[in-house]
Amino acid sequence: MTDVASQGSSNSADDRRYLTDRQGHPIYDNQNQRTVGARGPATLENYHFLEKISHFDRERIPERVVHARGATAFGFFEAYGRWGDEPISRYTRARLFQEEGKRTDVALRFSTVIGGRDSSECARDPRGFAVKFYTEEGNWDLVGNNLAVFFIRDAVKFPDVIHALKPDPVTFRQEPNRIFDFMSQTPECMHMLVNLFSPRGIPSDYRHMQGFGVNTYKWVNDRGETVLVKYTWMPRQGVRSMTEEDAAAVQAHELGHATRDLHEAIDRGDYPEWELLVQMMSDGDHPELDFDPLDDTKTWPEQDFPPKPVGRMVLNRNVSDNFTENEQIAFGTGVLVNGLDFSDDKMLVGRTFSYSDTQRYRVGPNYLQLPVNNARNARVHTNQRDGYMAHRQDSGGENPHVNYEPSITGGLREAQYPTHDEQGPVIHGRLTRKRIPLTADYKQAGQRYCLMEQWERDDLVKNLVNQLSQCDRPIQERMVWHFLLVEDDLGLRVGEGLGISPQDVAHLEPLQSQTMTDEDRERLANLG
Ligand code: HEM
Repeated sequence: MTDVASQGSSNSADDRRYLTDRQGHPIYDNQNQRTVGARGPATLENYHFLEKISHFDRERIPERVVHARGATAFGFFEAYGRWGDEPISRYTRARLFQEEGKRTDVALRFSTVIGGRDSSECARDPRGFAVKFYTEEGNWDLVGNNLAVFFIRDAVKFPDVIHALKPDPVTFRQEPNRIFDFMSQTPECMHMLVNLFSPRGIPSDYRHMQGFGVNTYKWVNDRGETVLVKYTWMPRQGVRSMTEEDAAAVQAHELGHATRDLHEAIDRGDYPEWELLVQMMSDGDHPELDFDPLDDTKTWPEQDFPPKPVGRMVLNRNVSDNFTENEQIAFGTGVLVNGLDFSDDKMLVGRTFSYSDTQRYRVGPNYLQLPVNNARNARVHTNQRDGYMAHRQDSGGENPHVNYEPSITGGLREAQYPTHDEQGPVIHGRLTRKRIPLTADYKQAGQRYCLMEQWERDDLVKNLVNQLSQCDRPIQERMVWHFLLVEDDLGLRVGEGLGISPQDVAHLEPLQSQTMTDEDRERLANLG
């Protein structure tokens, strides 16, 4: 084949591939538009220039509404085949877990939550920890965070908590007064706040942090029996955090230190590794517990529900392109495989709608055809057709005329049900709008505070006082009131920093949205 572009080229000795447009036309001049004479004017039929500039105009897709800044890497998950001393098949039929040593490809995207796509990775903010397992039974996404609990327990409140945390719609500044206005009226946030304002709220980078599934899921075995489960990823590298001062020093030099750290570690062969641990609880109500296991503002005590290792994950490949592998990757809590299931956790159900909904908008309706999202290790045969940017039919090639089911002329048939499709306890109830009966908003927050080392408590108090001193007095008072109910020492110290005594807040009544435990009431009575 004659290299048409080399004809007339001043550089014909250059054997690199030459530039074309997407129609396959060689680009002879990439420096100058076509103009009438050397000094213009330009002409409108300038196809190469118009294609180039109009594509550039559309280079950005909307950034994620949350978790916009992130970094992705690839690797594998290796199963242990057991849950502690027992074969894992006793609890789940999910194939990726069954066999010791079985490897499954994974993608992991780390992220910050509130800032935009180019924001600082030193922010005090939860970190996203989203893992995509490309299993042979289809993809499984475990979309978690680095902190074990979340701000709220019902998905209907998610837009509100995020609006409060995002910049003010007028000043476009993250305002402590807006954040604590919301938090002070939302007692279920206390456990998350005690975590977020402690040193854990600024992880030193992405390699040195834990990951938590946060929400409660189910495992299903071959007999259709279910158990409730919670997931934790423990980094082999250890857990490291930064104080505000450390973070300010890093941020003075760069905004993307965590992305760089991850990329450089993988580049030099220092592959980061995490172990996956699973806590388990029988499926059903648990009146004996002092928290609701479907409440994502709670952790499950490790002495009662010991986390057991079920496998390990290694990241050994960086993205080859940020846009196609990090920007377009799409995770969701609805993406489960046979043997894994949802629980009735009210956050989980809302999340499950929200992820694929936003991805159809953010990336496009055919986002699952993109290589990074495609179920690459499973067979994908559907009757879904067309839509923007469809680039292939996934009919399986049996009979391209039949894009419907049922049919006696070919096309796709239904798969066979897994054994025991009916699973889990029978549920009766009435349609209602009610918070869960056992909210217990303070106890675990207090326990967390008591478990901290002294320097962590000092850091937590300092960070809270620093933020709250920028808030209005009624917001400060309500927050001190909550912290006194969390733990005396925390409330007294934050109050002291703000010039607010327990007597100053003793007149405050519980919020309308609150269910108090006996323990809360006792603390309240002692306030004055
Ligand atoms: C990203 C919604 C709670 C972890 C997102 C996105 C949405 C969303 C719309 C953007 C997805 C995209 O553009 O691809 C929600 C809703 C929640 C909720 C409605 C509550 C009802 C949580 C919780 C966690 C979490 C509790 C942690 C366990 C993540 C992560 C990402 C994310 C890690 C980033 C995924 C990625 O890297 O692409 N969430 N979220 N979210 N969310 Fe949530």
